[in-house]
Amino acid sequence: MRIVMASDHGGLELRQMVLEHVRERGYEVVDLGTHEAASVDYPDYAVMAAEKLRNGEADRAVLVCGTGLGISMAANRHKGIRAAVCHNEFEARMSRQHNDANVLVLGGRVIGPGLAASIFDAWMSAEFEGGRHQNRVDKIESIDG
Ligand code: RB5
Repeated sequence: MRIVMASDHGGLELRQMVLEHVRERGYEVVDLGTHEAASVDYPDYAVMAAEKLRNGEADRAVLVCGTGLGISMAANRHKGIRAAVCHNEFEARMSRQHNDANVLVLGGRVIGPGLAASIFDAWMSAEFEGGRHQNRVDKIESIDG
């Protein structure tokens, strides 16, 4: 499984820490940056990551900004992208089991690296349950506002 990772400056430090953890778990990572502390715009990184998912170059994404909010809003504007901001393992599991989230979003100024790694593990190990949840995810996908 290939995981694309991206962040703005607000998520840079946490992304770099989580990236190490993701590689240690044996996943292939496509790292889109940012690589410097200079201020950048989080929507640009959400767009780049969404493109990698939509064209099949990656299977999942992990995005980070300061709060996780802005980059998730930008990611969720793309068809087929279901980005979930998670602050704990329960949210991470539920975002997979019920929402089939294909993007995990973390807040670099909200949580620390230990919790982030644990959230990532919970997210990766949970499976979408389908059934009634598939119907709801289909309804999300059919929204064309
Ligand atoms: C950048 O200062 C900050 O606004 C960004 O990282 C993020 O928190 C936005 O939602």
